[in-house]
Amino acid sequence: MDFNVFHLLLSSLLICLLLQKPAYAIKKSYIVYLGAHSHGPSPSDFEAESATNSHYELLGSHVGSLEKAKESIFYSYNRHINGFAAMLEEEEAKDIAKNPKVVSVFLNKMMKLHTTRTWQFLGLEKDRIVPKDSIWEKARYGEDIIIGNLDTGVWPESKSFDDKGFGRIPSKWRGDGACQLDRLNGSNRFPCNKKLIGARSFYKGYEAALGESLNASLTTARDNEGHGTHTLSTAGGNFVPGVTVFGNGNGTAKGGSPKARVAAYKVCWPSVNGVGGCLDADVLAGFEAAISDHVDVLSVSAGSTSPQYLFIDSFAIGSFHAVAKGIVVINSAGNEGPGPGTVSSAAPWMIAVAASSIDRSFTSYVELGNKKQLKGSSLSVRSFPSHKLYPLIDAKDAKLAKANASDAKTCADGTLDPKKVKGKILVCLVEEGKTGASEQYLQGFLAGAVGVVSANDEHSGNKIYALPSPLPSSNLNFTNGEYVYSYLQRTKNPMAYLTKPKTEVNVKPSPMMAEFSSRGPNIVLPSILKPDVTAPGLDIIAAYSEVQGSVYAYIADSGTSMSCPHVAGIVGLLKALHPHWSPAAIQSAIMTTATTVDDGGRPILDSFYKKATPFNYGSGHIQPNFAMDPGLVYDLNTVDYLNVLCASGYSEAELITFYDRPYSCPKSYNLADFNYPSITVLDLKKTPVTVTRTVTNVGSPSTYKVYVKNPKGVSVSVKPSSLTFTKVGEKKTFKIILQTMGVAKPGSFVFGELCWSDGKHKVRSPLVVKHK
Ligand SMILES: *[C@@H]1O[C@H](CO)[C@@H](O)[C@H](O)[C@H]1NC(C)=O
Ligand SMILES: *[C@@H]1O[C@H](CO)[C@@H](O)[C@H](O)[C@H]1NC(C)=O
Ligand SMILES: *[C@@H]1O[C@H](CO)[C@@H](O)[C@H](O)[C@H]1NC(C)=O
Ligand SMILES: *[C@@H]1O[C@H](CO)[C@@H](O)[C@H](O)[C@H]1NC(C)=O
Ligand SMILES: *[C@@H]1O[C@H](CO)[C@@H](O)[C@H](O)[C@H]1NC(C)=O
Repeated sequence: MDFNVFHLLLSSLLICLLLQKPAYAIKKSYIVYLGAHSHGPSPSDFEAESATNSHYELLGSHVGSLEKAKESIFYSYNRHINGFAAMLEEEEAKDIAKNPKVVSVFLNKMMKLHTTRTWQFLGLEKDRIVPKDSIWEKARYGEDIIIGNLDTGVWPESKSFDDKGFGRIPSKWRGDGACQLDRLNGSNRFPCNKKLIGARSFYKGYEAALGESLNASLTTARDNEGHGTHTLSTAGGNFVPGVTVFGNGNGTAKGGSPKARVAAYKVCWPSVNGVGGCLDADVLAGFEAAISDHVDVLSVSAGSTSPQYLFIDSFAIGSFHAVAKGIVVINSAGNEGPGPGTVSSAAPWMIAVAASSIDRSFTSYVELGNKKQLKGSSLSVRSFPSHKLYPLIDAKDAKLAKANASDAKTCADGTLDPKKVKGKILVCLVEEGKTGASEQYLQGFLAGAVGVVSANDEHSGNKIYALPSPLPSSNLNFTNGEYVYSYLQRTKNPMAYLTKPKTEVNVKPSPMMAEFSSRGPNIVLPSILKPDVTAPGLDIIAAYSEVQGSVYAYIADSGTSMSCPHVAGIVGLLKALHPHWSPAAIQSAIMTTATTVDDGGRPILDSFYKKATPFNYGSGHIQPNFAMDPGLVYDLNTVDYLNVLCASGYSEAELITFYDRPYSCPKSYNLADFNYPSITVLDLKKTPVTVTRTVTNVGSPSTYKVYVKNPKGVSVSVKPSSLTFTKVGEKKTFKIILQTMGVAKPGSFVFGELCWSDGKHKVRSPLVVKHK
């Protein structure tokens, strides 16, 4: 046969094959979400089993048989969240979505992790002594509160989870025997104890996305990354004295609720061939288990990288069901800042936490040959033996002949020529999404440099981190980095020296917002301000996995991942003090007592040294000692949450299934009236807008007066302007009337505040107004 003819035949054969509907289409993993169960809040095994059978029947009616349905479903959420995860063809998924029982069908997406002096900075202790009026003393350090963490698991051998001095496990705990952990090196020690009372692992969603099964030795809840150990120990780790990172930041490491019991839910996994992070199906399974186990608080330092519709967001769905059961859920706001509208934690039933600095820094100066000193951050293991200058070289001038110069400038793997690097201090450029400073230190070390300066580009700006490094190193911000490059260019024999990192405390101003912290406005639900508060999230020292040996027992890390468990720890204390408060009341206490001023009494700044706004920090920086006695709270319940979704355009048909009791959307509902502790008014015009709020007294009898800071170009009046309470639990409603004054820039956001005070308490709410 002539080759061309053969080729032609082959091609037409191929085309035929492609055009034909293939015998078996590609299956992908999906979540089918059905809302709430019709069974009660504490289902029996029988009820759970019949829920699973109903899942088989529902899917069976779409895919042809019960057998096929059973084969496809790999998770049946049968107790609290109603839904299942299954392998489906795209056509099948579309068909199921049309079923009136179904709220949503969405792909099993990859969500991402939002990668100790802190407590002193927050006023819980003073000069290592815990004052009597500290929330720690009053809340008995969170004794018997159970804090769960959805993350990468736990390193159970960490001292932060030792159970010395802990009594019996609280009787409310339902996760008995849930300790899916291996014993380290075949040791006899049982990995869970009276402190770490549970560790569960969920990976079927990860396997489905990977398309292969995990090696059984890798499926336990052991944290091989460190992230989950860090966040869990920040929320509820023990007092561990003498913790340092390479001799820096010496102090006692501890979590916010050091006497709480902790439970790890491993739902996030390492990246393999681009598949990893926290898969929706596993996240929902983690929420389902934590609700069943009866945790009091759930810390979730992960989320989607971009804002998304709530019914396809496993974090929003899972937390809705957890909050409905009285669990407080705390979520990181995200690390997609500093751009506007980047906050991914949008749901009003979760506390969304931004990240800011503490009053400590790990400073290493870069001293140049011209005597100029530039301030950077570092946690190097080693320092130079003597104060002498070393030759300084731009990494692009130290590249291998075959290497790409722009890659070499960032010290990418395999681009540096050890002959040119040897004995010198290397300058690497930090570009967003390229080789990070940590990796640059390693590359410099491997190539034989004596030191590494990681200089941020304009986009990385002021995002400087104190990172562990095997050699003297420093991370400089953009301005300082630019100076180094210009010095390199105009100097014949550029020289430099790096000072030993020094732990500096009482750094002013602090807190300052972290540049990476995701910002409002809330794209998903514009009438709800997000983030809610800010907490420490820069260079936070906490426990780590000892995968690479004991050097990493404690490490400094940054992210809203780190600030989220700080708030979870505080929530643990509030739960211990006020066991009967609703999740919304606790959220309100944290928000209304937050502050917008720094330690110098001036407005908190963003990372560009500009005045930060509620889009950066929501209600402000947390103040735990005030949160325990907020005076008044803005309370909310499940129906309120459904109402706000109705008014935001979510369909009643879907919301009915969301709730386990009869529900219908209110005839008319003013979005601004949602009783949230922050106040957002969109599209304000000349016509006055009235907003209603109701406060509940949780303090002693008292009379509160209102104070208002008007947003620019807005007049605000409050009626009545005084509220008198005679007993605990008493509710009072007031109206806020807002009106545009003068000329306002259409579409612009302006900020003010409303504060109720009885002289002892200050109950603050940010006012966010968008001019029409
Ligand atoms: C486990 O065993 C290996 C090899 O015996 C040893 O190098 C390592 O330090 C051990 N790990 C721990 C945490 O004890
Ligand atoms: C699973 O991992 C262990 C430890 O890394 C290894 O010894 C074993 O060979 C692996 N098994 C499979 C089936 O890959
Ligand atoms: C940490 O501080 C304690 C007491 O302040 C001291 O005894 C200890 O030696 C210090 N550790 C390091 C590594 O500096
Ligand atoms: C060098 O790499 C960058 C991306 O890292 C690329 O844009 C550029 O084209 C490359 N240059 C050469 C000469 O290959
Ligand atoms: C970098 O830090 C210096 C202080 O060391 C400060 O003056 C400068 O404004 C900072 N640059 C940026 C881009 O934030």
